[in-house]
Amino acid sequence: MTRAPIEIRVPGDKSLSHRALIFAALASGRSRIRDVLLSADVHSTAGVLRALGVSVPALGGDIVIDARGARALLAPHIDLDCGNSGTTTRLMAGVAAACAFQSRFVGDASLSKRPMRRVVRPLTAMGARIELESGDGLPMVIHGGALQSIRWTSETASAQIKSAILLAGVVAGVEVEVTEPSRSRDHTERMLRALGAHVEIDGTRVRVAAMTGALSPLDIRVPADPSSAAFLIALAVMLPSAPISVPNVCLNPTRIGFFDALRQMGADVRIDEGAEQGGEPTGTIRGAHSELAAVSVGEAQVPSMIDELPLLACVGTRARGTTVIGGAEELRVKESDRIATVVSNLRAIGATADERPDGLTVEGSQGALRGRVITHGDHRIAMAFGILGALPGNEIEIDDPACVAVSYPGFWDDLARATGASSTRALT
Ligand code: S3P
Repeated sequence: MTRAPIEIRVPGDKSLSHRALIFAALASGRSRIRDVLLSADVHSTAGVLRALGVSVPALGGDIVIDARGARALLAPHIDLDCGNSGTTTRLMAGVAAACAFQSRFVGDASLSKRPMRRVVRPLTAMGARIELESGDGLPMVIHGGALQSIRWTSETASAQIKSAILLAGVVAGVEVEVTEPSRSRDHTERMLRALGAHVEIDGTRVRVAAMTGALSPLDIRVPADPSSAAFLIALAVMLPSAPISVPNVCLNPTRIGFFDALRQMGADVRIDEGAEQGGEPTGTIRGAHSELAAVSVGEAQVPSMIDELPLLACVGTRARGTTVIGGAEELRVKESDRIATVVSNLRAIGATADERPDGLTVEGSQGALRGRVITHGDHRIAMAFGILGALPGNEIEIDDPACVAVSYPGFWDDLARATGASSTRALT
């Protein structure tokens, strides 16, 4: 008999939550944001905007932001603390570059090691003066002001780089064009268009025309985060128990490559499209226990599943054959070096895995996985290995379970519900 799925609601999308707050701050008028993600990274964006004089209320399920356009942003009296958040840093660098004041961006130890020259170069070419105090990372001091139009070809498919340039152009009121090697997530383009900017997209090239007025305020209900849903769907396909369904997930095509990869592995993953929400397609994703075969993913698929690759490697331990991830050198500059972190932790729990310069390989097996995972404070490492730890027979200790607060504070509770509820069902 097929079992009824367990429904788990996951929190709002992180990329959209950052952007909703930033766009509300740049707009002229009253914006309303519902279901914003309440996580450490999003609190960092809210804090940076407050330091620039925007009255962002305490974050909650339904918030209102009254703003007077980018020209009303004020010189900050304190450092702009971006915490662990690369998105906060790089998107707000684009905004700050176009504002006639000085700002200093700082972050935690992990963020301070991440490369910033990738946004410094285009923003400097537009006319901002930017100093990196130690090598390629934070602290970063931006002396913003009038900027000029730019056509930029990015070496990396990165929505953060692209968005920094688009935001700089919008705030400065100049035309900007960005070409990427392959298409990164397009939330910024969609939101800009919805708020009155003229956006042209041609393959991997995006152009935003010079804005003359301010952006219109927004009214958005943030759909659930596909990157958070991915953990529960991965659990569902590996756990011999009831299916799991996650409703109201953002199904933006630039974000859902992981679910395609699971299907390619033979997983029973179904997507039912629902209504559009906040300019994004949404729907329900359902996963059910399946026999899995190894998969190979390369450069073309990587951007659409960039944050899910540690999880894909973990799923690879339970799939027949050798799973190969290539074309993913970007993983080395995420919250940790995710190639090294994933491989060393897979080995620590008894799996067979190898590093490649641009990815990794992992062997599937049936053996129990046991050991201690060192997350390096990386939320997605904690959750990916947390899923493996929830499978019967495995015993995995996570050194820093609290780091999930960066993107999914309720993760461990939802995981307990997904597994506890399913085993209760299995007993009855
Ligand atoms: C993000 C873009 C991605 C992703 C990050 C969020 C965004 O980074 O890894 O978690 O919201 O724009 P890159 O653009 O650097 O690949």
